[in-house]
Amino acid sequence: MRVFITGANRGLGLELTRQYLERGDHVFAASRNPTDAAELQQLHQQYSDRLVLLPLDVTNAASIEAAVQTVRNNTDALDVLINNAGVYPHAGSGDAHQRLGQLTHDDAIETMQVNAIGPLLVSQALLPLLRAGRKGRILSISSGQGSLTWKATGDPYHYSASKSALNMYMRSLAAEIGHMGLISVLVDPGWMRTDMGGDHATQEPADSARGIIRLADQLHAEENGSFVTWQGQPVPW
Ligand SMILES: NC(=O)c1ccc[n+]([C@@H]2O[C@H](COP(=O)([O-])OP(=O)(O)OC[C@H]3O[C@@H](n4cnc5c(N)ncnc54)[C@H](OP(=O)(O)O)[C@@H]3O)[C@@H](O)[C@H]2O)c1
Repeated sequence: MRVFITGANRGLGLELTRQYLERGDHVFAASRNPTDAAELQQLHQQYSDRLVLLPLDVTNAASIEAAVQTVRNNTDALDVLINNAGVYPHAGSGDAHQRLGQLTHDDAIETMQVNAIGPLLVSQALLPLLRAGRKGRILSISSGQGSLTWKATGDPYHYSASKSALNMYMRSLAAEIGHMGLISVLVDPGWMRTDMGGDHATQEPADSARGIIRLADQLHAEENGSFVTWQGQPVPW
């Protein structure tokens, strides 16, 4: 399988990259600064024939275009895209900056660009390659925080809104690409011990990655446009 992963240098993206490589797949691991990504560089030494490291800032159009070109230089198709890159402003700062009284334009715009608009535009740019792949699948890493049904607190304003926007973008995309034989789903990866999730999180990113890879393997056309957990359970919109 040929898999493209954004935000591959740490957290969930790194685990997804590692596990796809361990089972023999080809991975395009995109990160903002591949030269500084020590773990990715190490994986590259081990799997140089199946791992391509490429720079990608999902908020930058020229960067997206260059990444597509790099993939094209290596292959004529992709089977799986995982929109994993994401931000949670002030994560781990010990203070909830996404609450009323502390909300800023800058935090709002950055969160929306990285978490919602970026994944949509990356998907658009890679669509021709996914159409040429086997059962092209787009898995976008969302969050239970993006569920309108579950929303019971103000904080985090921006993060929740950005994941709801991501959900709508990807459901819109699903409505349009289903007839091409492509599948787009939203995945809640659970609360993971990463830089974003913090030390108190309930699960390891390796477990979420394992579940997400299984999910990607087993996706059917009927699941196009759905919002599920890393274990495949439906999440209320
Ligand atoms: N951790 C959780 O508990 C949790 C729960 C629900 C959902 N999620 C979602 O799961 C995904 C992965 O989260 P994580 O916990 O692994 O987070 P993380 O450890 O903070 O990693 C975030 C990744 O996103 C990348 N990124 C940020 N801005 C970017 C940009 N403009 N362009 C490209 N890459 C960018 C980061 O790259 P740099 O190293 O360059 O900053 C990093 O690779 C995210 O979408 C997150 O919202 C996480």
